[in-house]
Amino acid sequence: MTKNQLTITRPDDWHLHLRDGEALTSVAPFTARQFGRAIIMPNLNPPVTTVIQAVEYLDEILAAVDGYDFEPLMTLYLTDNTSPDEIIAARKSCFIKGLKLYPAGATTNSDAGVTDIRLCDAALDEMQKAGLPLLIHGEVTTPEVDVFDREKVFIDKILEPLTHRFPDLKIVFEHITTKEAADFVIQSGKNIAATITPQHLLLNRNALFQGGLQPHNYCLPVLKRDIHQQALLKVIRSGNNKFFLGTDSAPHSKHKKESACGCAGIFSAHAAIEIYTSIFEQQDALDKLEAFASFNGPDFYGLPRNSTSITLHKTNWQIPDDYPLGNDKLVPFLAGTTLNWELADADKTPL
Ligand code: NCD
Ligand code: ZN
Ligand code: ZN
Repeated sequence: MTKNQLTITRPDDWHLHLRDGEALTSVAPFTARQFGRAIIMPNLNPPVTTVIQAVEYLDEILAAVDGYDFEPLMTLYLTDNTSPDEIIAARKSCFIKGLKLYPAGATTNSDAGVTDIRLCDAALDEMQKAGLPLLIHGEVTTPEVDVFDREKVFIDKILEPLTHRFPDLKIVFEHITTKEAADFVIQSGKNIAATITPQHLLLNRNALFQGGLQPHNYCLPVLKRDIHQQALLKVIRSGNNKFFLGTDSAPHSKHKKESACGCAGIFSAHAAIEIYTSIFEQQDALDKLEAFASFNGPDFYGLPRNSTSITLHKTNWQIPDDYPLGNDKLVPFLAGTTLNWELADADKTPL
């Protein structure tokens, strides 16, 4: 079946890095023109660890998306010292939608992350009571563990025991990359869900080395083997409602990516819904796109689904080689390539 136009309920992005300052101003409109809401990652430098900091960050984001009908859903960065009182304050705030667990040293700006999950037991207990989800970057950081195995080892050593100790805690296993992660979520209770990025659906680890080192395909968790990519594609074809859209769009300047020690993170906000749409089409699963992009996330978080829609047209357009990032530049995901779906113009311009 070929379709030239597609209208779906406005989607949300359940995992997004917006940064702050000039970078925020440059990237936020890309998300706001497509998505109704987004879960905003708190890994700023310094991280957003308190409700007071989150209010300030929220105000900064709202200024950057002025003119768009877009709601930032804020999160707090969990540390060894997050107190149960902070969790109570987060619940009372109503605009904090989750706490983010970064194992210390696992990824970009995670130095203040958790060194031992047991140190967070009091906070996790309060979250379980409050129904506040724990959003997890699921990789161990033990240097001896092979970088391609870090997600699987995290499941065995940290996540599975955690779900036994806190059986009712709502958990989003973020940016899953492996068959093991997909299977774990499928087999778990309904309080455990996962986000899937466009890059982990579209690429496998060959894309890191195709014709030479490809820094713009480098993110964490790193791309995995083809069998894992295939397992994620199977999940989206299945329409399982525990999986939803989370771009993990993570802007870094061109020079920080193309460096002797390049940063982890792929920027995909410029064309996120269009990229997901072509992936679903390629998988002959366009009928599963709307639930993945617009229903499963709000249903899991206990939020209403969006009441407006977006329309995509089957039109070829070329992704630019770069976009401004403050006074710098960033190279977007799939730079220079042609995409076959485009968001209708009306959705691209500020109101
Ligand atoms: C993210 C970033 O740059 O903030 N990078 C990434 O490779 N995904 C952090 C993260 O989500 O782990
Ligand atoms: Zn992460
Ligand atoms: Zn991320």
